[in-house]
Amino acid sequence: MNTPLILSLSLLLSFPLLFLCVPRILPPKEPLQISLPDELDDLSLFRRASTTTAAPATTTKKPKIAFLFLTDTNLHFLPLWDLFFRNTPSNLYNIYIHADPSSKITPPPPTSVFSNRFISSKKTQRANPTLISAARRLLAAALLDDPLNSYFALISQHCIPLHSFPFLYKSLFRKPAMQSFIEILSEEPQLWDRYVSRGENVMLPEVPFDRFRIGSQFFILTRQHALVVVRDRRLWRKFKLPCLNLDSCYPEEHYFPTLLSMEDPDGCTRYTLTRVNWTGSVGGHPHTYRPHEVSPRLIEELRESNSSSYSFMFARKFSPDSLPLLMGMAKKVIFRD
Ligand SMILES: *[C@@H]1O[C@H](CO)[C@@H](O)[C@H](O)[C@H]1NC(C)=O
Ligand SMILES: *[C@@H]1O[C@H](CO)[C@@H](O)[C@H](O)[C@H]1NC(C)=O
Repeated sequence: MNTPLILSLSLLLSFPLLFLCVPRILPPKEPLQISLPDELDDLSLFRRASTTTAAPATTTKKPKIAFLFLTDTNLHFLPLWDLFFRNTPSNLYNIYIHADPSSKITPPPPTSVFSNRFISSKKTQRANPTLISAARRLLAAALLDDPLNSYFALISQHCIPLHSFPFLYKSLFRKPAMQSFIEILSEEPQLWDRYVSRGENVMLPEVPFDRFRIGSQFFILTRQHALVVVRDRRLWRKFKLPCLNLDSCYPEEHYFPTLLSMEDPDGCTRYTLTRVNWTGSVGGHPHTYRPHEVSPRLIEELRESNSSSYSFMFARKFSPDSLPLLMGMAKKVIFRD
């Protein structure tokens, strides 16, 4: 064989190999920077949201749960969530969606509870302060939209419900003293690396190391805490700084637990209601359940917490192709409490 032929043959053969290796050998994405106009835009939204007040205590109307959907791909489990809201009186909840403008969202059908629920959104990137901004935009939009919004549940595109709406609603409003369900941890081994991932000492003086916290990105906040978040300027100045060490910088897992543990530690349960499985995690991603793992037994397992006083309400992550199986067991398993 002549050399050009061998060359082109080996090139051809190397294509599948290249395809396999690409995710590993590509240089990390250029970190997304927050532009000044975007920052100012957010600031004015947060200012307006900061001045909102809750519905007066004398109102006879029922409090609502604001569901805040955050996605940078598609909303994979929309039909399952549609079932979750089906038959639920619309005076008990609101839905808000922040979809990265570059995400390929399939528009929900007009009959869906999700149609027309999109808020003004900006680009996001994983392990980047833009995810904090997106969550804050959702909180601000929900604060402004309805004074009856009393709990604010942040949900990702990979999340599924583990219980029915009435079960969730009853559990949240069971106690008169409302608390935020947000994980707040201080003993994790990776904490120091995370703390210095923007450079040494840059978090000072606002965030000394002994007040730096970690927790899961998905939470349910009270209205009072949603206000704390949109009013904050002090910690945001630090957490918006660009990451130097991209492997250990996950601002969205630190900003909310750090801020709330500083402002109102007793107002937080310190645990999340969103179950996630970190066993065998890959590249900072938790275990993703695939169709062969999905069963009624899994749903029961995922609901169970280590405490008899609460049950997990949502779980992540599920692969999009698990949807048909989940839909099949929705009425008999997931929404049966
Ligand atoms: C968590 O994920 C691991 C695989 O990484 C799996 O073996 C285990 O069964 C999962 N745990 C639960 C409770 O689903
Ligand atoms: C319950 O506690 C055990 C032991 O501390 C831990 O391994 C497990 O992950 C916990 N389960 C949940 C659902 O938090």
